[in-house]
Amino acid sequence: MKESPKKFFLRTYGCQMNELDSEVMAGILQKRGLERTEEESEADLLLYNTCWVRELAARKVMGKLGKLGTSPKKNAIIGVTGCMANAKGGKLFEKLPHLDFVLGTNNIQDLNAVLDEVLLGKQAVRVDPLFKEELDYEGAQRENGLKAYVSIIRGCDKFCTYCCVPYTRGKEVSRPAASIVSEVKKLAEQGFKEICLLGQNVNSYGKDQPEWNIRFHDLLCLLDQIPGIERIRFMTSHPVDITRELMEAIRDLPSVCEFVHFPLQAGSNRILKKMHRIYTKEQYFEKVALLREIVPDVHLGTDMIVGFPTETEEEFLETYEAMEEIEYSTAFLFAYSPRSGTPAKRWVDDVKEEVKEDRLHRLLRLHNRIVTKQRNQALGSSVEVLVDKVAKDPLYLRGRTRGWVQCIFPGDPSLIGTLQTIKIESFSHQTLIGTLQSCEFKSGAKGIPMFAGSSTSALPKICL
Ligand code: SAH
Ligand code: SF4
Ligand code: F3S
Repeated sequence: MKESPKKFFLRTYGCQMNELDSEVMAGILQKRGLERTEEESEADLLLYNTCWVRELAARKVMGKLGKLGTSPKKNAIIGVTGCMANAKGGKLFEKLPHLDFVLGTNNIQDLNAVLDEVLLGKQAVRVDPLFKEELDYEGAQRENGLKAYVSIIRGCDKFCTYCCVPYTRGKEVSRPAASIVSEVKKLAEQGFKEICLLGQNVNSYGKDQPEWNIRFHDLLCLLDQIPGIERIRFMTSHPVDITRELMEAIRDLPSVCEFVHFPLQAGSNRILKKMHRIYTKEQYFEKVALLREIVPDVHLGTDMIVGFPTETEEEFLETYEAMEEIEYSTAFLFAYSPRSGTPAKRWVDDVKEEVKEDRLHRLLRLHNRIVTKQRNQALGSSVEVLVDKVAKDPLYLRGRTRGWVQCIFPGDPSLIGTLQTIKIESFSHQTLIGTLQSCEFKSGAKGIPMFAGSSTSALPKICL
């Protein structure tokens, strides 16, 4: 029989949704009286919040979990949560008999109940296909006191043929706007300055609840009015659902940052169709052009997959050319990885691993050149930075621009949590390096927090 745990260890793999789910789970456990430890060996409850999106991510976790069966700390309770839990369910016990519970992404609120079952000597599994109950987001133990993730929609209805997410996270379920607004107001009262709205496709917000009569841009409008929240970000957007209204909201709402993660995935229409991305390259380019017309200083991010089944060199070059033309400031590049249960898994994974790797490297080199060009263009300009923390070099502070570019500058730690104007003087790799500018827009001496307790609406939207 296992004893009631006192200390928990929680490791998170995967995306921001998992990070937020981990913060909620940590909140539930702390409420139960458990203390968090960063040392696996000290814990009597070990939780692994897993990712299933690519084979490598999944294999890493499997290896880690396998090793736990032979470690001397046999009496600890071991639980698997996250997307692997949904993908594998109770089958995980066959390979990993030392696990005590498997808790899916739609069952986080059942964590206490599952622990109680384990304490009664059972192996417990909860993996519901649909998200039902609101989570205790307000009880979440936040990793950061300035920036908070806020869930607005869970699940995905898009079913791209390569992707496991619609199967692991289930159908789209929007969260009531009143609940989101109430959470964000409380975050503002607690001193949070930036929120990042999370969903696999935030632009689908409200579509599953037509009677609410609210869309994503309406939600942005509501949140922009909350005093104290200086910046609003969001991710991810499916290109098909990015509307003109959203573009105008980015332009018009002072706190909404000019950064859109706009994943292209591939540049060839044949591959896009096979991926079931439901847009053509031309439609995507048109949307980018419209967005750039409405929000000229917008920064764009993308995800791209190389080596999708049957992708030819010419088709890859279309992806390469799209990257060259659009000049994304942020890019996450992946080699295709077959995932069980997805339609693409039934097709032969015929692009050799070395070819995938070569395409990935070419794309990465191109992206590095684009970033270097953008950083050079930024020299001499001024940017607004939300000061986040002390940088690796303790004489420097670190933060991000509205366009999500990392920036460091020499400064006093008392500036953490404030918005500052930084003049860019150099850069190293992706990071901009600058100096604090004397306040141009409000009175206040250099080095004194300029905007404490005020809104940024008086600020020009300088965006790198
Ligand atoms: N909802 C988001 C992201 C989901 S997963 C979106 O649609 O943009 C993050 C990224 O992982 C995807 O955008 C895709 O580029 C990549 N990805 C998903 N499944 C993959 C697979 N089987 N192989 C390689 N990359 C994959
Ligand atoms: Fe996956 Fe596509 Fe949904 Fe993104 S939109 S989570 S890539 S199925
Ligand atoms: Fe991974 Fe699940 Fe996120 S598969 S990327 S943790 S939605």
